[in-house]
Amino acid sequence: MTQARGLPQCLERLIGPEKAAAITTRRLMLRRPRMADAADFFAFARDDEVARYVMWDTHTHIRDSRRALRGILARTRAQGAETFAICPRDTGRLIGTIGPVWLDWDNRACEVGFSLARPYWGQGLLTEALGAFLGYAFQGLGLNRVEGQYDLRNPASGRVMEKAGMAREGELRQRLHYKGQYADVGLYAITHDAWRHQGSKP
Ligand SMILES: CC(C)(COP(=O)(O)OP(=O)(O)OC[C@H]1O[C@@H](n2cnc3c(N)ncnc32)[C@H](O)[C@@H]1OP(=O)(O)O)[C@@H](O)C(=O)NCCC(=O)NCCS
Repeated sequence: MTQARGLPQCLERLIGPEKAAAITTRRLMLRRPRMADAADFFAFARDDEVARYVMWDTHTHIRDSRRALRGILARTRAQGAETFAICPRDTGRLIGTIGPVWLDWDNRACEVGFSLARPYWGQGLLTEALGAFLGYAFQGLGLNRVEGQYDLRNPASGRVMEKAGMAREGELRQRLHYKGQYADVGLYAITHDAWRHQGSKP
């Protein structure tokens, strides 16, 4: 695993009742969210620009953020896979999320979804977080394929997946219906084989 691809420097199973995975990268820690993150979550989920291309609506009250955190934790239990809080290593505070939108154990595949607070855009942080998530998906979960789709009006999201080593597989017309309209999406994916192969490059 190489630092350049943003893969985890350490992937460890913490000993504790929750057995939550925590991953550290050069600048980030990915850890299980907790209800105490609600205020930090609300601080960026109330931003219409952050919520524009995600499936959830802009949070208007901290209750929305608490509900979303409960949903994330319930999904983590149901899927048997982590949706992580993205946190700067120096503060440990939640500035974004990344995890499976859906996970198909039969075919060992998932779709990744993510969000990031606006003050942190444009610094390569999401690419770093996605690299770490791919390491978790392939090594921690034993998945074979990770895919991600993005609204074509939001090219930064596709660029993040490209930079993380995912391959563009095509475009799907009106694949999503959200925020009152259909959206064309671009599909990116990476298989375990392709990920391992990239990892062996200098
Ligand atoms: C999309 C998003 C997650 C990217 O996170 P980020 O940490 O800023 O991403 P990175 O800095 O790692 O990379 C962003 C890349 O997109 C590029 N980019 C930004 N705006 C772009 C645009 N309008 N068109 C094309 N590329 C764009 C950047 O130049 C950068 O690529 P580069 O390193 O080759 O220059 C973040 O901007 C965000 O949260 N947006 C709003 C919510 C969202 O869209 N969530 C994802 C839904 S799928």
